[in-house]
Amino acid sequence: MEKLEMIYEGKAKKVFKTDNEKQYIVEYKDDATAFNGIKKGTIVGKGVVNNKMSAALFALLEEEGIPTHQIELLSDRESLVKAVKILPLEVIVRNVAAGSLAKRLGLEEGVEMKKTVLEFSYKNDELGDPMINDYHIQAMEYATDEQLDTVKSYALKVNEVLKKFFLEINIKLIDFKLEFGLYEDKVILADEISPDTCRLWDADTNKKLDKDRFRRDLGGVEEVYQEVLERISKKK
Ligand code: C5P
Repeated sequence: MEKLEMIYEGKAKKVFKTDNEKQYIVEYKDDATAFNGIKKGTIVGKGVVNNKMSAALFALLEEEGIPTHQIELLSDRESLVKAVKILPLEVIVRNVAAGSLAKRLGLEEGVEMKKTVLEFSYKNDELGDPMINDYHIQAMEYATDEQLDTVKSYALKVNEVLKKFFLEINIKLIDFKLEFGLYEDKVILADEISPDTCRLWDADTNKKLDKDRFRRDLGGVEEVYQEVLERISKKK
């Protein structure tokens, strides 16, 4: 598998073409940003954790019937993935109030949602990924109605599978962000699932095991990324 030109460089990943037009190579970086790029830093080893954790969770989700872009882990920092066209949506799933939801609704972090909350943002750095609803998605044609229905049902299924999986390693899945893409005209799960994109709290102590430690200067950032990967690896 030959790595050809880079077609995208984001905050946490680079994407390369390969000699197969239907496959990309994703390379995970240690660079960390928060608050739409205002805070910048490095989390040593993050790229390796996020690559391996995403590969493990995508494999689990595939077993549970959710199609994902993951093909195989190529190295510590690289994965071979299906060449999807990303839908311009960030799909946020919330089980417990935290972060921007806690702020927006004036809730204390940790309040359980009576029902899973799904939110959408328009993926656009310049605009700061503004929150949108179904009407905006339809009006702007960010996805067809059929694609949007599929996105919603996959997102809720991902939540059920991951909530159960994380609880088995004594972690509460507070909230997370997903991205979906089109591959051969079908919606599949893409991007990553990692401590960068999930809020993960230790089920006994509520210790934050995710990027909030970087965002909020809580210290021990590298250690918790490694810890989450270790708990996952021990279970698999
Ligand atoms: O900041 P907020 O509370 O809206 O984030 C909800 C969830 O989505 C968190 O788990 C956060 O890590 C994730 N997220 C993300 N990328 C973004 C925005 C949020 O991974 N651009």
